[in-house]
Amino acid sequence: MRIRKVVIPAAGLGTRLYPITKSQPKEMLPLGRKPAIQLVAEEAVSNGLHQILLITGYHKRAIEDHFDMAAGNGQDSAENAHLFPGILGREDIDIFFVRQSHPDGLGDAITHAKTFVGDEPFAIALGDAVIANQSHCADLLSRMAEVFAKKEPAGVVAVREVPIELVGSYGVVNPSNGEGQVFRISDIVEKPSRDAAPSNLAVTARYIFSPQVFSYLAHTPRDASNEVQLTDAMRLMLQDGHEIWAMKLAPEEIRYDVGNFYEYAKAFITMALADPDEGSALCAYIRELVDSRPSSSSTGPGEDQR
Ligand code: G1P
Repeated sequence: MRIRKVVIPAAGLGTRLYPITKSQPKEMLPLGRKPAIQLVAEEAVSNGLHQILLITGYHKRAIEDHFDMAAGNGQDSAENAHLFPGILGREDIDIFFVRQSHPDGLGDAITHAKTFVGDEPFAIALGDAVIANQSHCADLLSRMAEVFAKKEPAGVVAVREVPIELVGSYGVVNPSNGEGQVFRISDIVEKPSRDAAPSNLAVTARYIFSPQVFSYLAHTPRDASNEVQLTDAMRLMLQDGHEIWAMKLAPEEIRYDVGNFYEYAKAFITMALADPDEGSALCAYIRELVDSRPSSSSTGPGEDQR
């Protein structure tokens, strides 16, 4: 069955970016000229996912306004449509919203998509991470959908290698049949300690599931932070013998993340430098800036790096 639906969770509180995100969604932070969530939606649409559900919550109303045709700025619909190439103004694309009224974790957020999903397989694209190939939308979700169609598993998850000291920030998979670009997993652990991590392969913001994930989410115990984790539901599925496969990002695919300041700053700079109009001038400016810095002040990335 062709996958048509994508769920974009964007209800997380963004506390790692306070005070920037105290009253505005981290997903609305710009990467170059566009908010991150718009790039995520463009990526989904470019992969043929035309039914979009955005999961918002407290302080996230700006996201709903952003996807309006006439955004209250005096412009008419046609003028707004060109700001969203390929999304707004198309009759074959539907955008829906649902609110997670209490921040109870990613797993709980996904349960809010049950009615939207119905009995079809669907994709999840986390609203705070863009996967791009150079500065273009990646076809990762289409490749994951191919694996889903071929292997008929319960789920497919995107992963990438991270330095071992950073595994505690991610869901981490245990490969069960070797480790090529695509492999089956036997276990998955949410934010493990370095010693408990089954590998350094971190879950990377894109998933495909059959709707049976909802029955597991309904029975997933809350974690130590009293949240329902999608990773824990996947673990239960694996324990019940369901197949879950992992796909590594292609070497040229980059994940741009607005989850913490270091990654956000890097993502903004990269996208701004790729801007067709201002990129070259900005590049010259940054060169000048770096050249004029005393070398002692050029410290490496902070401990937030991931
Ligand atoms: C979530 C998931 C985690 C995953 C990460 C990045 O964590 O729970 O398994 O590795 O997204 O895709 P969060 O960043 O919301 O804490």
